[in-house]
Amino acid sequence: MLCFNPAECQPRQVYKLMTGMIVPRPIALVSTVNRDGVANLAPFSFFCGVGSNPPTVLFCPSLRPADSPEPGQKKDTLRNVEETGEFVINVVSDAIAAAANAASAEVPPEVDEFALSGLTPVASVAVRPPRVAESPAQMECKLLQVIYTGHAPGSGVIVLGEVVRFHLREDLVEDFRVDPAGLDAVGRMAGNTWVRTRDRIELIRPK
Ligand SMILES: Cc1cc2nc3c(=O)[nH]c(=O)nc-3n(C[C@H](O)[C@H](O)[C@H](O)COP(=O)(O)O)c2cc1C
Repeated sequence: MLCFNPAECQPRQVYKLMTGMIVPRPIALVSTVNRDGVANLAPFSFFCGVGSNPPTVLFCPSLRPADSPEPGQKKDTLRNVEETGEFVINVVSDAIAAAANAASAEVPPEVDEFALSGLTPVASVAVRPPRVAESPAQMECKLLQVIYTGHAPGSGVIVLGEVVRFHLREDLVEDFRVDPAGLDAVGRMAGNTWVRTRDRIELIRPK
């Protein structure tokens, strides 16, 4: 076995180890608006559910990396969440994977990634950011807390939110069970590699 001490590695090397070991990661396609109402859309794979009572989720927009034009600066999504306290998590299905990827382009805040990706905004019920119409399932969220794990380029920032509305395509839900085949979610591996969720196994839990 190889053993790495992160304190002796470059941040980029640590990032590669983490994105290679923590797999597959679900992808939150996060919609937000700024205080002027301009919409923003970007994918985040440092994303997970935290608990169901109250329904809580988190995703992590890191501070811009050292090799970017604005090292250590906040991504637009984080700035918008801090300004408005609201966001929507749109589940990424195989059908919209390429569009979600297009929304990850590093573009100035005034550029609306809905237009860039070809995805359609549809009004939310309880928050201002729109949902993605083509996404099979969405969660409207209100911000609970923002936690900075550091302030250096590449530092992770945890955005913790409470889900205030769940939306699912009608054919996907029966008695609150979500059909994984219909959802057809994709996830992220390292680098440019994504993964489908079509090869599933069943394991009966021991009593
Ligand atoms: C599949 C995928 C997953 C990503 N996951 C993350 C992530 O977890 N954290 C992060 O900071 N950036 C992540 N990115 C990069 C952001 O999407 C990218 O920096 C984006 O431009 C941020 O947009 P914003 O400035 O509009 O918020 C990911 C990109 C892709 C394609």
